[in-house]
Amino acid sequence: MTKPVLEVSGLKKAYGAIQAVGGVSFRVMPGEIFGVIGPNGSGKTTMFNSVLGQITPDEGRIALNGRDITGRSPMQLNRLGVGRTFQTLQVFGKMSVRDNLIVAAQEHRGSMFSRMFAPGDSGLGAKADALIDQFRIRHVAHKRAGELSYGQQKLVDIAMAFMSEPALVLLDEPCAGVNPSLVGGISSLLKDLNRTRSGSFVVIEHNMDFVMDLCHRIMVMVEGQVMAIGTPAEIRANKQVLDAYLGS
Ligand SMILES: Nc1ncnc2c1ncn2[C@@H]1O[C@H](COP(=O)(O)OP(=O)(O)O)[C@@H](O)[C@H]1O
Ligand SMILES: [Mg+2]
Repeated sequence: MTKPVLEVSGLKKAYGAIQAVGGVSFRVMPGEIFGVIGPNGSGKTTMFNSVLGQITPDEGRIALNGRDITGRSPMQLNRLGVGRTFQTLQVFGKMSVRDNLIVAAQEHRGSMFSRMFAPGDSGLGAKADALIDQFRIRHVAHKRAGELSYGQQKLVDIAMAFMSEPALVLLDEPCAGVNPSLVGGISSLLKDLNRTRSGSFVVIEHNMDFVMDLCHRIMVMVEGQVMAIGTPAEIRANKQVLDAYLGS
């Protein structure tokens, strides 16, 4: 039997009286693109931030390849092969696109010392160039990231998460604020990355066409709970999900 890359069991997190995540369990298998959908405020980002060590859950266990990683710091998780993108852009506007990628990997490598004294490139340039080609952003690679359109910056932001060659990448709303004409491009890019880099992805996204087309399985969260987990076809046909979410 294949072991899950990510296993979340009984995750809970409350903010005062608000039970943001109220006992969430799911598994992500190797090579799987796992979607997370649900209305605003249903606990998706809180679940993400718990998995990523950004916040400490009240209860529950998070395992990466069978290893308990509950409460690990974002830096430790990054070293263990967990990458992420945020709901909002994290690029450095004044730096070139290529330098943004290199710096993202240097942060992964860690210490201030290595950042100050490592030779300017240390092999990361080749990695950055490979991603720049795969993301088809060669024509803007030497521009300041801040000069790019929002959609292009989003691509840079996603590429940054892949510099550390992560085994698992969590993407929080990769299409948010992106021009609809670019959404299909992000989808085929993620499919391509999934195929060529054999990583597993967890993707939060509101764009239903995008999720249904991209993801192998989808988890529906409502009010901090898991309402359903299934293939896109199963989720589309789920009466409870239709009533609570998709039908609206
Ligand atoms: N730092 C926080 N402090 C207080 N309440 C929070 C905080 N983060 C999230 N919440 C609340 O937890 C619930 C879930 O939020 P969130 O995880 O952001 O949902 P989603 O990402 O699905 O929109 C919401 O009611 C939100 O207001
Ligand atoms: Mg959110």
